Amino acid sequence: MCGIVGYIGQRPAAAYLIEGLKRLEYRGYDSAGVASIVSGKLRIVRSIGKVAALETKLGGRALSRMGIAHTRWATHGKPSVRNAHPHADCHTKVAVVHNGIIENYQELRISLEQRGHRFRSETDTEVIAHLIEEEMKTAPFEQAFTYALKALRGAYGIVAISSDDPTKLLAARKSSPLVIGIGRGEMFIASDVSAIVGDVKRIVYLDDGEVATVSQGGYDVRTLNHRKREKDEVELERDWMVAERDGYQHFMLKEIFEQPKSFTDAMRGRLLVREGRVRLGGLRAVETRLRRIKRIVIVSCGTSYHAGLVGEYLLEGVAGIPTEVEMASEFRYRKPIIDRKTLVVAISQSGETADTLAAIREAKSQGALTIGIVNVVGSAISRETDAGVYCHAGPEVSVASTKAFTSQLAILSLLAVYLGQGRGLAPKLATKIVKALAAIPKQMEEVLQEAKSIKVLAKRYAQQDHYLYLGRKYNFPTALEGALKIKEIAYVPAQGYPTGEMKHGPIALIDASVLSVMLVPRDSVYEKNFSGLEEILARGGKVVAIATAGDLAIKKKATDTIFIPKTIEMFAPILSVIPLQLFAYFVAVERGYDIDQPRNLAKSVTVE
Ligand code: G6P
Repeated sequence: MCGIVGYIGQRPAAAYLIEGLKRLEYRGYDSAGVASIVSGKLRIVRSIGKVAALETKLGGRALSRMGIAHTRWATHGKPSVRNAHPHADCHTKVAVVHNGIIENYQELRISLEQRGHRFRSETDTEVIAHLIEEEMKTAPFEQAFTYALKALRGAYGIVAISSDDPTKLLAARKSSPLVIGIGRGEMFIASDVSAIVGDVKRIVYLDDGEVATVSQGGYDVRTLNHRKREKDEVELERDWMVAERDGYQHFMLKEIFEQPKSFTDAMRGRLLVREGRVRLGGLRAVETRLRRIKRIVIVSCGTSYHAGLVGEYLLEGVAGIPTEVEMASEFRYRKPIIDRKTLVVAISQSGETADTLAAIREAKSQGALTIGIVNVVGSAISRETDAGVYCHAGPEVSVASTKAFTSQLAILSLLAVYLGQGRGLAPKLATKIVKALAAIPKQMEEVLQEAKSIKVLAKRYAQQDHYLYLGRKYNFPTALEGALKIKEIAYVPAQGYPTGEMKHGPIALIDASVLSVMLVPRDSVYEKNFSGLEEILARGGKVVAIATAGDLAIKKKATDTIFIPKTIEMFAPILSVIPLQLFAYFVAVERGYDIDQPRNLAKSVTVE
């Protein structure tokens, strides 16, 4: 979503700000801008489109040794230079960048207009600059900033500067991430660690309700009521800053190919193959409570929601605990019935998804035990849950999630065994599961070797009007995920459906213009799936089948077949999703779209 970068130090700010913004590009945005104080005056440069356009517009014009910058993803007011951040007050003394949404901006705007303020944009953000200006009539910049914050309702990560005091960046957080980077004689602030460039080794995460004053020599964090906060400084993990494409044409392809490694990393130190057991250090603190839980509710969004659906089968099938999965955006407004014996599991790649975070807060307020399955270390969900298990998938840059999904499935599989261990999971079955998990990375390599033939298929079917993805039991969520991938990056209508439900409606869609991608591994519902496949062929439909290696019966029937190696039933989704990721990728390439930053989408959705 929107991105923030700020710098104050000994060197010209422009290069750092632009480089920081470029590192945030993957999050999705429609315009960008910078502000700095040059010779006592505020200078703002903004443009629509890519950061490169802003760089060109900035030209050789020097900024000072401090400044703030922003990439905007429109929420209020269309993408335009006028609506791009930073926003200023009437007299261009204060500049503000903001992520999130100010819910009461309309009433604030009306009251500020009545007091004579003139607005230039349609954004909610601009009210912040005017509020600060209003407060600065009677108070210095720092105090005015805090007063202004108190009037805001909604979510924000804000950084502000003022020509009245060019020695400071002021920042505040409420439900939208901000992190301070500590350099030598220079300081950074950003909405995402990946945007912190330069020689920074330590960082500080701001928490909700905190206000930070960042100057060249250090930082000071306080509450809205001016109470000082002692903050933990943590080491910056360099991994997150060097996300490069490594010769792949797109991050998405690179990340698809990284899956054998990311899956291995997810299991590292947790899978005890010889003992047939699982160890999850991140859950040790809540072990006793976990033993008492009677029910699990999984909350998540998008691809993480699909991982949750596989998790439901895993947790019920292996651990024997009743499990439900709900889209976090629905859960938060449903008055869910949960109690101290309910475990609420939040699955989130970014750890910052607003709906998932809100769902966790709701669950906590009702006394549930909460845990996170999160990829981004130190993110809001990882901090707000009682305990958790990190995915360790490394940075996922492509908006369309791939490796995070299979890592989430790795963790859910581990969690199912872990919870099953204390609840009568037969050691023989546990050993079988653990062995099957250990074999997955090598099997993923085998699936990836099919990339060339999947590319050929994608070329053949790239111009279909509609795709139908069908699967049953463990592979129904995979069907949903396959359909989501192709919608996200190839912009083609696609539907995921349980194969068994076809006859209740969707089979009416079948004709030559629809391609059915069917997940038909050799599992307990194989025969049922097989007849589903025959029904589609009998109605003139074309079928690309994802089948278990060596299944000649399917190969003979289906229009085209992609084989995946044999694994136990519950792990088929981990392998079968890979051909679907590759298929969506190659169809999108064939159609000529922007793979890593698809239109209208954002990597991390930090607003409702
Ligand atoms: C956005 C992304 C999706 C992602 C979803 C949930 O919509 O584009 O790829 O699955 O958010 O994100 P999370 O970070 O919570 O997994």
